[in-house]
Amino acid sequence: MSGNELREAYLQFFAEKKGHLRLPSFSLIPQDDPTLLLIGAGMAPLKPFFTGKMKPPRTRVTTSQRCVRTGDIENVGRTARHQTYFEMLGNFSFGDYFKGEAIPWAWEFLTEVVELPKEKLWVTVYPDDTEAIEIWKSQPGFPRDHIVKLNDNFWEIGPGPCGPDSEIYIDLGEERGCGSPTCAVGCDCDRYLEIWNLVFTQYDRQEDGSYENLAHKNIDTGCGLERLASVLQKKQTNFETDLLYPIIEYAEKVSGLSYGKDEKSDVSLKVIADHARSMAIMIMDGILPSNEGRGYVLRRILRRAIRHGRMLGIKGKFLEGAVDAVVGIYRGARDFEELVNKADYIKKVISLEEDRFAATLNQGMELLDHEIEAVRKAGGKELPGKVVFRLYDTFGFPWELTEEIAHENEMEIDSKGFESAMEEQRTRARNARVKNERVAVPDLSKIDVSALTLDEKATEAKVVAIWKDGVLVDTITDGEEAGIILSTTPFYAEGGGQVGDAGTFVSAFGHIRVSNAKKLPDGTVYHISYVEEGQLSVGETVKIEVDQVKKLASARNHTATHLLQAALKKVVGAQIHQAGSSVTPERLRFDFTNFEPVTEQQLADVESLVNEEILKGQDVVIEHMTLNEAKKAGAMALFAEKYGDVVRVVKVPGFSMELCAGSHVRNVGEIGMFKIISETGIASGVRRIEALTGKAALDYANARMMLLAQAAAQLRTNEEGVPSAIEKLRAEKKEADAKLAEVEALHEKADAQQLLTAMQEIAGVHVVTGKANVEGMDALRDVADLLLTKMEGGIIVLACANGEKANLVVKASKDAVAKGIHAGRIVKEAAAVVSGGGGGRPDMAQAGGKNPAAIPQALEKAVQAIQAQLA
Ligand code: ALA
Repeated sequence: MSGNELREAYLQFFAEKKGHLRLPSFSLIPQDDPTLLLIGAGMAPLKPFFTGKMKPPRTRVTTSQRCVRTGDIENVGRTARHQTYFEMLGNFSFGDYFKGEAIPWAWEFLTEVVELPKEKLWVTVYPDDTEAIEIWKSQPGFPRDHIVKLNDNFWEIGPGPCGPDSEIYIDLGEERGCGSPTCAVGCDCDRYLEIWNLVFTQYDRQEDGSYENLAHKNIDTGCGLERLASVLQKKQTNFETDLLYPIIEYAEKVSGLSYGKDEKSDVSLKVIADHARSMAIMIMDGILPSNEGRGYVLRRILRRAIRHGRMLGIKGKFLEGAVDAVVGIYRGARDFEELVNKADYIKKVISLEEDRFAATLNQGMELLDHEIEAVRKAGGKELPGKVVFRLYDTFGFPWELTEEIAHENEMEIDSKGFESAMEEQRTRARNARVKNERVAVPDLSKIDVSALTLDEKATEAKVVAIWKDGVLVDTITDGEEAGIILSTTPFYAEGGGQVGDAGTFVSAFGHIRVSNAKKLPDGTVYHISYVEEGQLSVGETVKIEVDQVKKLASARNHTATHLLQAALKKVVGAQIHQAGSSVTPERLRFDFTNFEPVTEQQLADVESLVNEEILKGQDVVIEHMTLNEAKKAGAMALFAEKYGDVVRVVKVPGFSMELCAGSHVRNVGEIGMFKIISETGIASGVRRIEALTGKAALDYANARMMLLAQAAAQLRTNEEGVPSAIEKLRAEKKEADAKLAEVEALHEKADAQQLLTAMQEIAGVHVVTGKANVEGMDALRDVADLLLTKMEGGIIVLACANGEKANLVVKASKDAVAKGIHAGRIVKEAAAVVSGGGGGRPDMAQAGGKNPAAIPQALEKAVQAIQAQLA
């Protein structure tokens, strides 16, 4: 049975006999699934049906899914089974049938349709899946002891639907085994070959690694087409089946070598066979070589194949022929029409990449051999990162290819060193890109620009000229920046203060990003471009797309600039004149002559006048007329812009009229909202207004409201309460400031500093005693407080004369109290000396007396009391 017949047999069995909807293979490019770079399993494109996010067209589906897996790429060619590209036959149930059907149907297909010998079949199951075990045992003719319980019978591929599984193996005979006494199902050798996996999908693995139950139980199965074909066709490896062997035959022919003679060249022949299919299908599905993502996987596969061709001694290019062999394999097979139809295209993409790599492969290999030798001689085991980078950057060796060659020579690569060289390169590229914005334009005298046109509606054009680093070239490839001229362009080129449009060009072989469009002195528009994928050549046709979101944002700001100018003339005065402007998608800036700042009230009036115009929702009228007619009609002419005879007049009826070539909204209502964010002077007599429109204005206003809300929360009030809360805070601050000033004045008056200089120490405690130059108990207490803080702890005894009376205050800090000080008792003793009395707490006490003349003695007494308390 041929491979193509086997695919048909499987799909027909499930479609016609078991009620499945037969779907063609999905593209290798995952749709809406950022967790996957490429489709690597039959179930991968069907994930939303398993999780219930989408309703399937039928609850039973069968496919032969084209898959690419590169995790084990280094093993390709070295084993019987490893491939980067394969087809996975599958039957799926979304909440429909479960184990009770999936198992018997697999058994029926294998034993009745393709008639595999029952006694050669084995199965593995998840250890506690007794249900599956029972179902297997009841299959007609199933050898009941051919069941093995394995813990790793659980299938998953990153986040998404998964579950326990049951695998079907075929025993290929003792002679294919490793001979180990423990050789059994699950052994790594070639004897037991897994041909089918039945996954009982009941969980949904989350991004964080946890498992959630799916709403319903499902079936996901996978049966490797090439593997099953190798069994049916009685071949030792997948490569000898009719799904791969024709490519090996082709490689034999171009290399002059024969398969099966030499192990090393067999590896290369198998690599070419596998990789030729991968690259053909990847390109068929729309992937182009690049240095990122899927495009990089393709490039790596392609270059790896080219290198193996060299290892076989193939001179020159050979992969186009390999593609013919691939197409030959699938010609006539259902759902492979696209491959046949796109064969020429696929060959072209491959041939371009082959040209590119062939130019540097030999030199790169020479350098690499030389470096490997040098490392070996020095007794090292690691290829320097700089070398890996040079091979990558100058010779186009994917680093994985260099790593593989290093492995073949029992070496590793210094990946850290490579990464840091890459990082430096990225920085350089970023800087260069900024410079390139002023891309050096080459000598264009040989380019015929007479037939170039501007066409706002153009969606397609021919590439007329390309240049790179100031030199005309025929072709640019991925990762390169260039200037491009098209036969016609809808791009608005930078000018009149407005930045140029951005967008993309898509050709058959390349994806190009355009960051800006500019004008040459003769009006020719060129595009500042970056090749993201593939390449682009002169003469090719590109599909053009202008970034409409950015364009509309620029248009909003441009029309709003006209409204602003008209409003300024109305509010501030007709004397203002435009002195420059800048319009980007993000904001607008308008400079004008005026000798004084625009007042806040004027700004508010201008802003509301513009917004009123916007709310009127008038259409913007664009007319072409002669310059004289325009002047007569009263159009404002921009400074320094040269116009031909016919000019473009942009009108907002009844409000604004200017000569202008820029992009504008169709209706002023599209501006949405206008918000001035600043008004400043930029030179003597020149003012500048910056403003926002549309969503940017709304975002700005929202951000301001957020700030207000935060301020309100801080002030423990609502938005309306903010001004009065601030008023209150300011009053409180004023009061506190006044109080502080009072205390400070008092401090000065009391000679506080003087008192401090008399500080003594008694038993390790700071003691200050003295007469303060104040009147009254309150003032005395304030000074005592102040001094105690300055003393950093201790005891203070202060006295003052108050007319005929004496006042006394004693204060002690916490640690002084802890050492036995009692202010109340001290003041009592001292007060007696001035013929008075008083008392208080251990830390604070006060007293009055009738004899101010005895204050010095009273202080003396206090010191003695302190000494006694601390003794
Ligand atoms: N999704 C399962 C596999 O790829 C069937 O093995």
